[in-house]
Amino acid sequence: MTMPDLNTGALAPVAEEYEADTFNVTGQVPLDLNGTLMRNGPNPFSGKFSGADVLDWWPEAAMLHGISFADGRVTHYRNRWVRSQNYAAYNGDAVDGQVNSNPNVNVLEHAGEVLALAEGGPPVRVNTSLETLGQSDLHPALNNGVTAHPKIDAVTGELMCFRADWAAPFLTYSVFDRDGKQTVAQEVDLAEPSMMHDMAITARHSILMDLNVGYDFTLFDEGYRIPICWDDKRKSRICVLARDGSATQWFEIEPCFIQHVVNASERSTDIIEFDVVRYPWYLKRDLKNKGFFPNPLGVLWRYTIDLVKGQVRERQLDDLNIELPRINESFIGYPNRYVYAVVQPSDQEMRGVVCYDLVTNSRQLHQVAAGDQNSEPIFVSREGHESSSENDGYVLVCVFRQTSNTTEIRILDAADISTPPLATVELGRRIPAGFHGAWIAAS
Ligand SMILES: [Fe+2]
Repeated sequence: MTMPDLNTGALAPVAEEYEADTFNVTGQVPLDLNGTLMRNGPNPFSGKFSGADVLDWWPEAAMLHGISFADGRVTHYRNRWVRSQNYAAYNGDAVDGQVNSNPNVNVLEHAGEVLALAEGGPPVRVNTSLETLGQSDLHPALNNGVTAHPKIDAVTGELMCFRADWAAPFLTYSVFDRDGKQTVAQEVDLAEPSMMHDMAITARHSILMDLNVGYDFTLFDEGYRIPICWDDKRKSRICVLARDGSATQWFEIEPCFIQHVVNASERSTDIIEFDVVRYPWYLKRDLKNKGFFPNPLGVLWRYTIDLVKGQVRERQLDDLNIELPRINESFIGYPNRYVYAVVQPSDQEMRGVVCYDLVTNSRQLHQVAAGDQNSEPIFVSREGHESSSENDGYVLVCVFRQTSNTTEIRILDAADISTPPLATVELGRRIPAGFHGAWIAAS
């Protein structure tokens, strides 16, 4: 699974920290867009990736980017490496007192803390100025390590998460209340470690996924930095837990891998609908060539889970290749109508944004020109619209422009992403593609 040259184009890291407060803007930045768009991703301290494979790319140092908006203007851009132990060690500084983590995957706000999240390691508390503040004070239990994709119920304020580990216990499940106090901590039985990246919640349940990608520690012997790969002998299973952890129910599904979920919701007391981006297989070893086969691309897929009959119906909802799905986060765990995602015209490109309307079974596209690439689309609700509908807001997307080797931020109308952007902000710098990000509202 060789990648293109990781040191040119959209994936390429940057070599320095930088900030700016003047930008070329086309159109009008909405007056009610007040906050900071944060992006996270791997960026070697040297400014150069040394490997050529995705498993070399993933574990590199965490770099955050922040673009702040206020009163119809873009007020500031900055990028910073997270100051954890690896940063101090690289600079020859003392590592004592620094968090031993590399939180390069995601950003999440809960109970007033903004956390940079790792793949299973401790989160690191940061702020929208991209300063590193240390471990989580409010969620000390997270400092044992946590998924990069916890889920927050906007109605109750609770945070649901898991920790998957190479060593026993292989899986733990936790719930934190709206103030960060842990209310549930329990092991979930797994016979062997499992590559779990994301999860879902509903109003009453949490959903975990034990799929066909597992651990093969002989990959270390071959020089790989992450020992995960597809295993035909594994079974793919969905675990539906009562949110309070009091009951678990397992459902076998067709072999697959799911990197990211879209959402889940209770459709009746018996039925859960669970939407994901599904791959028929992922990270399959090419033993003849001592590598990996190119991954297939993902599509929108729905699991309809009958809790009483113990059955799952699964079906593909669309044929477009997509990844990095996002929704209006107020609807996480509840029935949602709209899904925003990155379009993948090929396995080397993330180019274009799709908005699915799951009620009319239609889709809109925001086109991105050939050669350019874009990040995940992040939905931001309009401020001051208490009774606003699900798609009343903006979609923010970072677009890498190949000709200028810079990134622009496009602010799209979430109700119609096919119309020209409301505003385009030219950063004059490049934000590497990275993984995930978040909108942190100024209030
Ligand atoms: Fe992810």
